[in-house]
Amino acid sequence: KRVVAFISGGGSNMLALAKACATPDFPAQIVAVFSDKADAGGLAKAEALGIPTRFFLRKDFASKEAHEAAILAALDALAPDLLCLAGYMRLLSGTFINRYEGRILNIHPSLLPLFPGLNTHQRAIDAGMRIAGCTVHFVTEGMDEGPVVVQAAVPVVPGDTSDTLAARVLTVEHRSYPLALRLVAEGKVRMEGGKAVASGTL
Ligand code: GRF
Repeated sequence: KRVVAFISGGGSNMLALAKACATPDFPAQIVAVFSDKADAGGLAKAEALGIPTRFFLRKDFASKEAHEAAILAALDALAPDLLCLAGYMRLLSGTFINRYEGRILNIHPSLLPLFPGLNTHQRAIDAGMRIAGCTVHFVTEGMDEGPVVVQAAVPVVPGDTSDTLAARVLTVEHRSYPLALRLVAEGKVRMEGGKAVASGTL
């Protein structure tokens, strides 16, 4: 399966996906990395792996629609099967999502439905949680609320800061996203009727 990854920052999740895709018999390959930031650290990491990159700056376009149209046109030329949002800090419009319905994955640094949105680690600490984690889900119009494919949990320990918790959650993000991508790319999990459903024997 052909994958385009979307990043806005360091791209550690994109790197984890790229490493997984490079293992024998992995059912997906990353054909390009797109970003909305010209200086996203992950762009250099992708290029070092020989993965083509492009960035699309919102300020270069008159509207969100025009920005998305440029991205969609670039995607059409690549004909990806799946899109993997990995630290991509922009909300996609319903038009964009419908174009790739059931074929967009995202990773969020909390155990959804807890803590959608931003600053998830500090919110979990402030709420007194003793467990945190990440969620890989299909992207739907609502933010951080699509059907879940894979979750992984880590302990929250007394004294944790958002940085120490973020680092602990990242370690399971880098295992969860490749697992989710494999399941979807090999057709074992798909989105149907707004749910993540198994389509074969696991
Ligand atoms: C990660 O916590 C990810 O869950 C969130 O953005 C953070 C940075 O991701 N979406 P990355 O290192 O850019 O992949």
